Amino acid sequence: MTDYVFLALLFVHVGAVVVWFGSVVFVNMVLGPMSSRLSPQGQADLGMIVVPRATRFLMMMGGVALLAGAILYGYITEVNKAYAPSSSGLPWIQASAAVALIGFIVGILMIGPASRKLKAVIGEAKEKGTSPAELFSKPTGEIARLQRRLLISGLASIVLLTLVLLFMIVGANL
Ligand code: HEM
Repeated sequence: MTDYVFLALLFVHVGAVVVWFGSVVFVNMVLGPMSSRLSPQGQADLGMIVVPRATRFLMMMGGVALLAGAILYGYITEVNKAYAPSSSGLPWIQASAAVALIGFIVGILMIGPASRKLKAVIGEAKEKGTSPAELFSKPTGEIARLQRRLLISGLASIVLLTLVLLFMIVGANL
């Protein structure tokens, strides 16, 4: 008999994964590389408005994906074992879930504060009367350092999520 609870959990898990991973790729492959082509005012707005909002959205989607994954894992290993992965697939799911969880926590600790700091540094410079043109034609040490940190964390997230996705699909189908 069809298990609708399993299907609903899988839908929420995979749906959130698709939005999360897709947004991470879009932000790091399109938005990030294009930012240097924006006007200084555009770059300031990006750092003040878009980056903090995008960071919050990505964290939220990641949280939903992992939470639904954890509930799904509990459901198929404890409640309806008919949908449990095979004994050779289970370690792949466990390993990829552990990597995803650790990556998510490291991401929260690195990306969250960096995006908040970027917003604060641009805001402070604005209050002091520094124009966006001055700020972004020659980014200060702090801004350049934060931009680099966001870039490296973003690329690391793509590599990690690609591996987790691969392992998760292998684990579910072995
Ligand atoms: C705490 C983290 C996670 C847990 C506990 C978890 C758990 C699970 C479980 C139990 C399944 C069902 C396996 C089955 O049907 O036998 C599943 C499926 C899946 N997961 Fe995850 N997951 C996590 C994170 C992720 C992440 C980060 C991604 C993507 C980057 C991902 C992608 C997928 C995909 C695509 C499937 C469907 C695989 C298929 O049916 O072929 N999961 N996950």
